[in-house]
Amino acid sequence: MTRAFYVSTPIYYVNAEPHIGHAYTTVVGDFLKRFYQLDGADAYYLTGTDEHGEKIYQAARAAGTDSQSFCDRISQRFRDAWDTLEVANDDFIRTTEERHKKVVRAILQNVYDKGDIYYDEYEGLYCVGCERFMTDKELVNGMCSDHQREPEKRREGNYFFRMENYRTWLREHIESHPDFIRPEGYRNEVLSMLSESIGDLSISRPKERVPWGIELPWDGEHVTYVWFDALINYISALEVPDGDKFVRYWPVTQHLIGKDILKAHAVFWPTMLRAAEIPVYQHLNVGGFLMGPDGQKMSKSLGNVVDPFELAESYGADALRYYLLKDTVYGQDSAVGEALLVERYNADLANDLGNLLSRVRALLGRHLDGALPTPEQIDRDREVIAEGEGLLSRVRPLVDQLRFFEALELVMRFVRHLNRYFNDEAPWKLAKDPDQRVRLGTVLYNIAEGLRIASVLLEPAMPSKAKQIRRDLGLGDYAFADIEAWGQAPFGSQIPDKADILFPKKEREEVEKTGGQAAKKPASSAQREAQIDEVSIDDFARIALRVARIVSAQKVEKADKLLKLQLDVGDEERTVVSGIAQWYQPADLVGRRVVLVANLKPAKLRGIVSQGMILAADDGEGNLVLVEPGGDIAVGAEVR
Ligand code: MSP
Repeated sequence: MTRAFYVSTPIYYVNAEPHIGHAYTTVVGDFLKRFYQLDGADAYYLTGTDEHGEKIYQAARAAGTDSQSFCDRISQRFRDAWDTLEVANDDFIRTTEERHKKVVRAILQNVYDKGDIYYDEYEGLYCVGCERFMTDKELVNGMCSDHQREPEKRREGNYFFRMENYRTWLREHIESHPDFIRPEGYRNEVLSMLSESIGDLSISRPKERVPWGIELPWDGEHVTYVWFDALINYISALEVPDGDKFVRYWPVTQHLIGKDILKAHAVFWPTMLRAAEIPVYQHLNVGGFLMGPDGQKMSKSLGNVVDPFELAESYGADALRYYLLKDTVYGQDSAVGEALLVERYNADLANDLGNLLSRVRALLGRHLDGALPTPEQIDRDREVIAEGEGLLSRVRPLVDQLRFFEALELVMRFVRHLNRYFNDEAPWKLAKDPDQRVRLGTVLYNIAEGLRIASVLLEPAMPSKAKQIRRDLGLGDYAFADIEAWGQAPFGSQIPDKADILFPKKEREEVEKTGGQAAKKPASSAQREAQIDEVSIDDFARIALRVARIVSAQKVEKADKLLKLQLDVGDEERTVVSGIAQWYQPADLVGRRVVLVANLKPAKLRGIVSQGMILAADDGEGNLVLVEPGGDIAVGAEVR
């Protein structure tokens, strides 16, 4: 029987529009679903929306609509968002659906009948953002650190779930299942939560205060606490307890969550399952947060919010998906932004992948009537063939361990190998020699075959473009089983005459700055020019300007304004100390191309010898914006 695989995302609150954090988790889920499906598994992917509770009730009131129509509207926005990002979820659950509510009621009744739910009066500090009572230890300066606000003091009659009774069991379960919660840092965090009392969990809210929720089956004056309701989505969608999907998928569940909702998933959820006598999930995979391009938490007030749908509009959903997977480390926080995306897009997608495809297509069209030839491999082809054939077995364990960027990097390394092979074998030269026709055919076949293999492995990250690569080579769809042996692209396949450029090269559409304002012409530029002496062309010619690439960047200790940059100037590396620390985060600089004044007299700054200076423009308000050469210009090129 085929192996089953089940992945879920958190169900998203409908009090906010879909944003990049939601998009990230959902793209990761989609990547996993497609990866295992291509690998022959029966893969199932669930996402949805979380629609009950005080927060949603208040948001609907603020919007002047009734709660249900408010939920309907925003929930649809999430569905549309996932369509835009080519997310192929198998189901979309909403907690306001009857199929879900019915399961929540049944579980509540069951746990209540067992004696694990009791009524009590409770007084504590409540954060509406988190929708839960906070312990003193969780507060930072009296505030909830996630929501930056003081929790409210509340006294309420609530029903409680005897969560504490399951603490020892849970701790032992986590200890004996090392990959139950991963990456490991989060597992340790949970073990430390479980090292002391976790208390009981309040699972109801008085209906007079929160009328928007699922009524408790035994007390219509109370509605179910939103987390006790929401977590159950993962099994209500599978038709617990005896739906086919539940039987098939639940034993192999992988939940994907962000680190903000660790406690609910690692403590509330397993204890709830245990009390309901349902086996616990297999893995809880915890992702880090995406931060703004400046490395700070995204917020409207900082002006560093990155909109995934604008990026998808400008660069395509596939490029955005690829970027999110390739430039983040799952489990850790990562800075993201348009400039970084463009860098990644141009280097990996337009250059390494797209150019190779168009070059091989052009030669096939021009010299071999657009048909994939029958190859005759020789010794010098073995290396690239071996790498292609072994790629899946090296990529798979990385994906199993949620190391997405490394998995994609392996595929791109193979693509770069294909580029080297192309340059070394120089098919454009072979084409000039009629005696080399077979060799020409072999080289072009191998590149097409390599691109086929790469496209199948890239498909989970970029489903449409992967198909386009194969279509442009006259090929159809393949699964992972078809990429373990070289030579499965059928000989004689005819490539289509016309094809769109796979990834047209992009310039960044907007300069990204931490200040968030567009660069302006300096008000005083005319005055400044008037003060500067004229120079002759010969004077100017004495300044050597060259294109350089920033290889690494770091803050200079005890100097707020300075960054130490390591530059690649083509034939050498230079260290330059630059006064741009106020406007650029080190991580945002790596990979950018800049203009270096290469023959400036070296100077020592804070003990570091600076070998040159990089150019930046003043926006008129004293902010500096790097001068970045456009087009294809190579690192090391002279600027005249
Ligand atoms: N409704 C609850 C989850 C219930 S699951 C039974 C909820 N919803 S949410 O809309 O606030 O979404 C939370 C999830 O969105 C996070 O866990 C994470 O997956 C994702 N992210 C939200 N902001 C994020 C970032 N800035 N970066 C990455 N992901 C983050 O909590």
